[in-house]
Amino acid sequence: MPATARSRLLREAERRGLYAERYELRGAALALQSNTSPEILIAGPAGTGKSIASLVKLHRRASHERIRGLIARKTRVSLTESGLVTWEEKVVGPHHPVVVNGPRRRFREAYQYANGSEIVVAGLDNPTRIMSTEFDVIYIQEATELGPEEWESVTTRFRGGVDASTTQLLADCNPDSDTHWLYQRCLSGATTLLQSVHEDNPYLYDAARREWTPAGVAYMDRLDKLTGVRKERLRYGRWVGAEGMVYDDWSPRLHVIPRADLPTMRYYVASQDWGYTNPGVLQVWGVDGDGRMYLVKEHYRTQKSIEWWKTTAYRAWETYRFVVITCDPAEPGFIAEYRASGLPGRPALPGLPALPAFNGIALGVQAVQARLTPADDGRPRLFVCADALDSVDSLLRPGTPRWSLEERPRYVWALGANGKATKEEPVDANNHGMDAERYAVAHVDHVGVPASHGGRPVAAAPRPIVDAARDQYRRFGVR
Ligand SMILES: Nc1ncnc2c1ncn2[C@@H]1O[C@H](COP(=O)(O)OP(=O)(O)OP(=O)(O)O)[C@@H](O)[C@H]1O
Ligand SMILES: [Mg+2]
Repeated sequence: MPATARSRLLREAERRGLYAERYELRGAALALQSNTSPEILIAGPAGTGKSIASLVKLHRRASHERIRGLIARKTRVSLTESGLVTWEEKVVGPHHPVVVNGPRRRFREAYQYANGSEIVVAGLDNPTRIMSTEFDVIYIQEATELGPEEWESVTTRFRGGVDASTTQLLADCNPDSDTHWLYQRCLSGATTLLQSVHEDNPYLYDAARREWTPAGVAYMDRLDKLTGVRKERLRYGRWVGAEGMVYDDWSPRLHVIPRADLPTMRYYVASQDWGYTNPGVLQVWGVDGDGRMYLVKEHYRTQKSIEWWKTTAYRAWETYRFVVITCDPAEPGFIAEYRASGLPGRPALPGLPALPAFNGIALGVQAVQARLTPADDGRPRLFVCADALDSVDSLLRPGTPRWSLEERPRYVWALGANGKATKEEPVDANNHGMDAERYAVAHVDHVGVPASHGGRPVAAAPRPIVDAARDQYRRFGVR
C-alpha cells in the first residue's frame, strides 16, 4: 500500500477511535483487557508494554461506554512527560478529535469524547482535582511511587450506584522491593497482580518466529548491562532488595571476589569507625595500579577498648604498611591516641598515620556509588574480598550484620511520609562498616581534604594521592 494511502487510513482509524486497535495484545496485556477485578496491577520489567495495555483498555472503555476516567501519576509533571505522550501519540492517536481539539499537552486537564466520555488527567501532587470528582475507571501509572494512603484515598473516588461491577482501579509499575506495600497488597489478595514479561511485547519479541526482534535484541542488551537490584527488577521483573538501598548498584556477583583474585597493590589505606556498644570497624583497603580499591581486611567488634583497637591497627599496619588510617572525626581523643607513639611493651614504635576522615555523608556516598557502578569495561572500581572479615564477634546480637558485607543490603535511605525513599540521607543504622568504607573512599578519591591539612570539605581535591601517600610515608618514617 502506498505510504500516503496508509497514512490516510491511519488518520481515519484515529478519527474513529480505532487507532489503538492496531496493537496485538498478548499475555498479561491481553488478560488485562477482560479482567474485571476491582483493583488490578500489571507489573513487570522495563518496556514490556504495561502502559500501552492499560491505556488501550481505558481508551476502549471510553470509546464504547459513557464513562468518566482518570489518568493519574504521583506528579503531574512526570505524567505529562511519560504517560500522556504514550496516550496521545500511541493509543488515542495524534489525529483523534479529543487530541486535536484540546489545548497543549501540558495544560490538558481532560479529554472529551463525542459520546460524552471524559478522561481527566491529574497528578497526586494536586489531589483536590481528583478528590472532587467521581470516576468509573482510574489508571495509575508507576503506582509504586504512591504511598499506601494515596492509593486508598484514590479508591474512594469511584462512582458508586451506577454499576459498582464496572468500576476498576488499574495500575502499572516496575517491581520494587518485596516489602513494598503494593506488592504486599497483591500478596494479601486485595489487588490482583498480572505479571507482564518482555515476550508479551510484539515490538520486542516475534512470537511466531520465537525470537527477539532487532529492536528487542538492542533493548535487552541495554537491560543486560544494568547491575544490582535495578537489573533484578528492570531486566527480570523481580520484587527484590531493600526498600531504598543506598548502594543499589551493589551486586555480590560483581563486587565480591576471592582472595586469589586480588591484584598486586600499589598502596594500602586503612579506615576506622569508632564504636563500643555499636560495632567499631577497622578496614584495610588495597589500591591497585588502576586506582581500584579492594577491601582486604576488616575488624568488626563491639566492646573493645581504644588500647585493643590500637594494638589491632598496629598489627594491620605491620602487615600492610597502610599510608593513612582515616578515622571517624567524632573522637579526636582516639585519633590522638593512634598518633601517639608506643604501645605497652613497645615504647619505641612510631605513632599510627591517623587523620580525621572527611565526613560529608552525601558526597562520600556519591563517591562510593560512583565506584560501585561498572565502568565502560564492565568492571566496578571497588571490590570486597570474600574473606576480608578477620573473625566474627560473638557478642553481636543474632540477626544483626556481622561485617560490612552484611550491612550493605540493609543500609537504606530514610523514607519520606509517602513511604518512598527520600534519597537525601541514609538511615543511621547498619552503617558502621559503610562509614569506614566511605572514609576510605573519600580519602583515596580526595572527597574533601582533612581539616588537619588545611583543606576544606569540598569534592574537588588539589593534590594527587601519590603525593599525599609519599608525605605520609615520610612523616611516619616509612620508605
Ligand atoms: N502490543 C504492542 N504492540 C506493539 N508495540 C508495543 C506493544 N506494547 C508496547 N509496545 C511498544 O513497546 C514500547 C514500550 O511500551 P510501554 O511504554 O507500554 O512499556 P512499559 O512496560 O510501560 O514500560 P516501562 O516499564 O518503561 O514503564 C513502546 O514503544 C510501545 O510502543
Ligand atoms: Mg510504563
